[in-house]
Amino acid sequence: MSIQDEVMQLRGETLASIAAADTTDALEQVRVAVLGKSGSLTAYLRSMGQIAKEERATVGKTVNIVRAEVESALAQRKEALSASELEAQIAAGAVDITLPGRVQQMGTRHLISRITDEIAEIFHGIGYTVESGTEIETDYYNFEALNTPEDHPARGLQDTFYVVDKSGATKAVKGESDVLLRTQTSGVQAHVMETQKPPIYMIAPGKVYRRDVADPSHLPQFNQVEGLVVDKGITFGDLKGTLEYFVKQMFGEDRKTRLRPHFFPFTEPSAEADVSCGICHGEGCRFCKGTGWVEVLGCGMVDPNVFAYADIDPEVYSGFAFGMGVERIACLKYNVPDLRMLLNGDMRFLRQF
Ligand code: DAH
Repeated sequence: MSIQDEVMQLRGETLASIAAADTTDALEQVRVAVLGKSGSLTAYLRSMGQIAKEERATVGKTVNIVRAEVESALAQRKEALSASELEAQIAAGAVDITLPGRVQQMGTRHLISRITDEIAEIFHGIGYTVESGTEIETDYYNFEALNTPEDHPARGLQDTFYVVDKSGATKAVKGESDVLLRTQTSGVQAHVMETQKPPIYMIAPGKVYRRDVADPSHLPQFNQVEGLVVDKGITFGDLKGTLEYFVKQMFGEDRKTRLRPHFFPFTEPSAEADVSCGICHGEGCRFCKGTGWVEVLGCGMVDPNVFAYADIDPEVYSGFAFGMGVERIACLKYNVPDLRMLLNGDMRFLRQF
């Protein structure tokens, strides 16, 4: 076969392969095999020197024509394949605009945050400031400045997690002892009395930690709202009136309040406040364990020893304090039988509020 015929045969085969290529990748393979550095047509161009002189001009011309033909066939086929590949891609990723859209659920505030804000609003409305404290606290503020020195039996009920600093030492600043996760927001009382002068009318919401195992009425981590009033001439009557006002605002005008004597190291006298049961209205039911009352908070008149830590003269000033659990208030308000339900993250439950 003459070189001329060989080239023409290669032309025929190449054009057939181009027509048969069904993807741009396959087409590229044909191009490389024919026109690439070591492609079959390139080989003829390279070996021109070895072709007999008489033939060289005609063969050269044929090779160039064939190359041009192949190039244009490649370009045409590439265009066609690219277009159909793009179409396929678009079809695969297409959105069916006739389908109904997905409804985005609106988020709601968690009941715990809502009740915290409600409590804050009630007290803000009667002139209280809203203070904040830290969840990591020193032993001094969590216990000692609240008249609960080391070895005080009341500490036993509020054993907690101690935080160790990088050096491994648990002693913080001289005079203050260990660093811990606070067990109560009452420490904010001590901070506020150190930094503000009476009259003080404040509440302080925040998270606290206990070594309790979660059960229907206990959580190892929960929220409290602390209250503190320090002014001249504050009496137990002011405490009672304030709590009654709070209870009616939070639970409704028909709810009654009663105070039961109790012990807290930082108040004297101390009491626990109960609210008449919202389910049986005081008749006695399972929710209130047959008593007609449910406990909502601890309170009392600020102990003079606590004033002494903050250099406030108990002969001039008196005050009251209280502390309530936010989760407990939320459950009492909506008759939820188990505190843990607030933390399960079950949207069917949480969306009701
Ligand atoms: N800190 C107490 C607790 O966590 C609650 C409490 C009781 C706070 C009496 C007070 C108070 O301010 O006066 O159990």
